[in-house]
Amino acid sequence: MEKTKILVLYYSMYGNVFKMALEVCNGISQVENAQAILRKVPDLLPESVISKNKDIQRAIEWQKDVAEATLDDLRNCDGLLIGTPTRFGNMCSQMRNFLDKTGPLWLEGALKGKPAGIFTSSVSLHGGQESTCLATMLTLLHHGMIIVGIPSSTPELMKTSTGGTPYGASHVVGLNENFKELSEEEKQLCRFLGKRVAEIALKLK
Ligand SMILES: Cc1cc2nc3c(=O)[nH]c(=O)nc-3n(C[C@H](O)[C@H](O)[C@H](O)COP(=O)(O)O)c2cc1C
Repeated sequence: MEKTKILVLYYSMYGNVFKMALEVCNGISQVENAQAILRKVPDLLPESVISKNKDIQRAIEWQKDVAEATLDDLRNCDGLLIGTPTRFGNMCSQMRNFLDKTGPLWLEGALKGKPAGIFTSSVSLHGGQESTCLATMLTLLHHGMIIVGIPSSTPELMKTSTGGTPYGASHVVGLNENFKELSEEEKQLCRFLGKRVAEIALKLK
């Protein structure tokens, strides 16, 4: 039997969303007959910015083996998870730029009826993670996708004092550094969301 393909589509400048994406993939892998497909969207940062920032260079190195997404990745998936840094309470321009190229898929109805979840990372706890998840849902709803969140009764969500929302998985970086490892609860909620989207995709297929 062909495996159910769950696309994990993300952008990450400093590596936080990338680390979340890896945990989301771990969650998908827990589901029998589901396969995680990890893809990054193309960057828009000019070389002049990258060359001056060691933290960005480190994150690029971490992600060097991840392939860039194509429209066919979206067309062929059975479920989707989108990961984006929070930028002014919204998705980043790299993700917006990629999604704005999905008009042909919208015309075909290629994403209709497929489940989708969202994950994000922000510097501050109240810096707009929830609005980022909700804003990202708008595009997915136009495509006819079925939004999958995290039930607020999930134990790790009740316990977390950093990231984690009912609208999607999240991570709080804090002000001291550009990158911070995920807390145990943040990791578990990323895995939970990946697993949940995969389980629902299997049922819908
Ligand atoms: C242009 C810009 C806008 C940002 N806006 C917010 C924001 O609204 N709230 C917040 O807490 N952090 C904000 N941040 C910080 C990012 O969310 C943070 O760097 C991100 O979570 C890192 O994810 P990454 O390592 O995957 O790139 C912003 C960063 C940039 C560059």
